[in-house]
Amino acid sequence: MSSQAQHWPAKAALKRAAQAIPALSTLLTNDPGRHAKYQRASGGLLLDFSRQRINDDVLSLLTQCAVERCVPAQREALVTGAPVNCSEQRPALHTALRWPVDKAPLSGTESACRFAHQQQARMAQLVTALQHGEWLGATGKPITDIIHIGVGGSDLGPRLVSEALQGFATPQANPIKAHFVSTIDGTQLGPLTAQLDPASTLVVIASKSFATADTLANARSALGWISTQLNIPEREIIAAQVVGVSARPDRMIECGIPTAHQLLLGDCVGGRFSVWSPISLVVAAQLGMPVFQRLLQGAHQMDCHFLNAPLADNLPVLAGLLAVWNAQYLGIPTHAALPYDGRLACLPAYLQQLEMESNGKTQDAHKTPLDHATCPIVWGDVGSNGQHAFYQLLHQGSHTVSADLMVAVAPQRGDTDSLTPQTQEQHQLTQAHCLAQARLLTLGDAAVGSSDASKVPGYRGNQPCNLLVLDALTPEILGQLLALYEHKVFVKAALWGLNPFDQPGVEFGKTLATEYFQALAPGGNTPPGLDECTAGTLETLRSPNLH
Ligand code: F6P
Repeated sequence: MSSQAQHWPAKAALKRAAQAIPALSTLLTNDPGRHAKYQRASGGLLLDFSRQRINDDVLSLLTQCAVERCVPAQREALVTGAPVNCSEQRPALHTALRWPVDKAPLSGTESACRFAHQQQARMAQLVTALQHGEWLGATGKPITDIIHIGVGGSDLGPRLVSEALQGFATPQANPIKAHFVSTIDGTQLGPLTAQLDPASTLVVIASKSFATADTLANARSALGWISTQLNIPEREIIAAQVVGVSARPDRMIECGIPTAHQLLLGDCVGGRFSVWSPISLVVAAQLGMPVFQRLLQGAHQMDCHFLNAPLADNLPVLAGLLAVWNAQYLGIPTHAALPYDGRLACLPAYLQQLEMESNGKTQDAHKTPLDHATCPIVWGDVGSNGQHAFYQLLHQGSHTVSADLMVAVAPQRGDTDSLTPQTQEQHQLTQAHCLAQARLLTLGDAAVGSSDASKVPGYRGNQPCNLLVLDALTPEILGQLLALYEHKVFVKAALWGLNPFDQPGVEFGKTLATEYFQALAPGGNTPPGLDECTAGTLETLRSPNLH
């Protein structure tokens, strides 16, 4: 990522524009044709940004910014395998993971594409064995359930896709059920061990580094459970009932996982960009390899759009520019992800990692401090549920937020869905609520339209939103949506001069926790040099109870 703050003339003009831009109630009521003017589509996705606090001048300045910050050259560098992750001196090759097998790779990505396709083929073999009931556990029983153990990028993507696309699962001779365990405390594992048969459960240990404390602790507990219940030594369970997915085959070998049960992702795929890799084995086993392939096709379609569409018509570029406008120029510190679809309940958490772990930085890629706000706090929930929780604050609280509201045109729930009138009605209810909230968020009291001042309810309005309209929530369109967000994050980083592919800020906490883990163990000592609060809380946690 280049850091050339001086070559950014549009910056000053944008600062001035931010001072002068009218409120949304004015923009939305005095700009005929605005809705048609401020929307762009690609594949099955429409980005409607007519409810953003922009006018033509701002949009043109933002597009100018993209040129001044060399977004076209930077996206070219990304997809052709240049070392865009400059702190770690390596490329970021998630687009190679979804490159079609029958399409010539872009120059510079040949080996990454070959590697991705090899691993996909190996993944498909494992999936076939599972789905045909040919994968037998240590006692000879066919595998019926997978416990997927991972955290962060090794959990959120597969969990999201598994939940979102359940209705699209292809019929299988031996259906595989997916279960997810991520929290370090082991509490998610407990209920599963009470419910699952240890003889027919496969454990997938998903960890790029194969060194994450959370994942390794859960893996040890899961293996201990199977081994104890079946009275079979752990090494035999590992040989028969464990798959490892990682960039570190050496560490998987150390754990005793046979190479035939290892799937690899390259070093150049970041955890939060890895849903397209064998990290999603559990998804392919549960839904079928064709569904996973459709997800990849959708993502590739968005990659092509990102690479080829003019900046002013480019969905990820526009989404990134608008996000920069809101955070840096309008000073909006939080951004809500509000999918109006219960199947996307995991999306806010997924986007939180994607956006905040990538761009939650205040130094550019050359360690120069930035003098403006960068990534907002990303949060959210299923929109219709949020309406009964936090929307009160959005409408009448003291905080300004920006938001992405997502809604589908068609209520499709699978490939062979026969939609009942009730399904249709509930979908229309969902759409109506989404639309109502978008109007209220942006227009506030002006949406209520009372001429009687005493009846004006005090809706603040002026909360800018995107409406992301999906044709339907299909595997292809989910792929497009997630790739759109990945590229949006990249565009924001390009504008801010950040490296979105490292996360140095999360590392030191892990080192400190290792020290405190030792201190909390029986006979452990309080490390020297601790501040009073940390030392005091260590004592509290070590004592048998609070009193
Ligand atoms: O702690 C942050 C992080 O490194 C994320 O970037 C990553 O997705 C997650 O931990 C899990 O890491 P791993 O896949 O190596 O277990």
